Amino acid sequence: MLTATFPTAATGDDAMSEREIVHPTATIGDVERTRCDAYNAEVVDVVDVHEGLRIFRVRPDEGPIAYAGGQYTVLGLGAWEKPIESGPQWPIDVSDRRIIKRAYSFSSPILDGGGSPSVAAADGSIEFYVTLVPATAEHPPGLTPRLFALSPGDRLLVGNRAKGHYTLGDVRADDAIVFAATGTGEAPHNAMLAELLERGHRGPIVSLVCVRLGRDLGYLATHRRVENRWPNYDYVPLTTREAWNADTAAANYVGKWYVQDVFDSQAIDVLTNDRFDPATAHVFLCGNPKMLGLPRREGPGSDSLIYPQPRGMAELLVERGFTLDAPTRRGNVHFESYW
Ligand SMILES: Cc1cc2nc3c(=O)[nH]c(=O)nc-3n(C[C@H](O)[C@H](O)[C@H](O)COP(=O)(O)OP(=O)(O)OC[C@H]3O[C@@H](n4cnc5c(N)ncnc54)[C@H](O)[C@@H]3O)c2cc1C
Ligand SMILES: NC(=O)c1ccc[n+]([C@@H]2O[C@H](COP(=O)([O-])OP(=O)(O)OC[C@H]3O[C@@H](n4cnc5c(N)ncnc54)[C@H](OP(=O)(O)O)[C@@H]3O)[C@@H](O)[C@H]2O)c1
Repeated sequence: MLTATFPTAATGDDAMSEREIVHPTATIGDVERTRCDAYNAEVVDVVDVHEGLRIFRVRPDEGPIAYAGGQYTVLGLGAWEKPIESGPQWPIDVSDRRIIKRAYSFSSPILDGGGSPSVAAADGSIEFYVTLVPATAEHPPGLTPRLFALSPGDRLLVGNRAKGHYTLGDVRADDAIVFAATGTGEAPHNAMLAELLERGHRGPIVSLVCVRLGRDLGYLATHRRVENRWPNYDYVPLTTREAWNADTAAANYVGKWYVQDVFDSQAIDVLTNDRFDPATAHVFLCGNPKMLGLPRREGPGSDSLIYPQPRGMAELLVERGFTLDAPTRRGNVHFESYW
């Protein structure tokens, strides 16, 4: 337990308000009419990374939405839409006119067709990187099984503006930038990376991402292309459930590394050329809240903070002299929790 005035999970970005998910739409007539009224964008491309992981490219009817790398918007579909895996968990009520909305970070193609950095696609579409949350008997997830039923040409709702303060903000051209993500938490980092490359960032840029299996790395080939062209960039994927992570008898056994382990070892200093200094480095954390490990106050009005265990990135970085972002004060540790 540490004592200080750090932000708690409850005082972070306004992102979590997007969990207020369901917005009833009066008593409009038929399904088609409700779709016409509510949906304002078209799916133009779906990249099937695998059955549980997709990149969606979407074109808003009103033209491109302005956003900074790291921001998010909402996607939404009617509760009446059929999920990709229908089952007893989903008693679809076609008369249910609610729109299920969730927050999604803007991802990015990172490079355009000619290999130049590009935050957004030239055709005006916006890109989202989404994992399918599987249904359990207790919890049929609301939106992702419906998103995964979409094909090019299908319609959906997209928020008409970008939100969030998880952005590059005041980073300087020579700062060391470290992105650390789990799963699709790399989406906003892809957009920030493209922005840094466009700006001609000179300091080291490291993007760490921890996934269960190698097949969960939907942007691997693009990151390798970026590494080849920009010597100040390193993409460091970590898997946790491959044989080399779990099977001590495997010839290539390396054990299981979370992103925290990269910071607990000297690896982060090597990756940043010994530039991992709180005076000149920024860390961006996105994804699983257990990886973030944001502290909570011990009690109302208390300055004592309790960090969750096992240790997440927040505690580890504060111990190394970094400062967590707070609504009243910009730190050098920025974070976006996905749930
Ligand atoms: C600011 C913000 C940006 C987000 N951006 C993205 C994004 O770019 N890509 C994305 O896939 N998700 C993103 N999410 C999560 C997204 O909003 C939904 O929560 C998620 O897609 C699940 O929706 P659902 O209705 O299918 O499941 P729900 O019924 O809402 O179930 C939620 C549960 O699913 C699990 N879960 C949710 N999201 C994830 C995830 N990404 N990876 C692993 N498990 C998860 C958690 O256990 C969570 O409690 C973001 C969330 C926030 C707050
Ligand atoms: N049914 C399936 O086969 C299947 C497969 C993939 C995903 N899913 C579902 O899809 C959704 C997304 O899964 P996801 O793999 O993208 O996201 P995730 O569950 O957040 O896992 C992403 C990575 O984060 C790691 N992680 C877990 N706890 C951590 C901690 N305390 N600190 C640091 N890292 C930690 C995971 O390692 P660990 O290996 O230790 O968990 C994994 O490598 C989830 O709802 C999941 O249940 C299901």
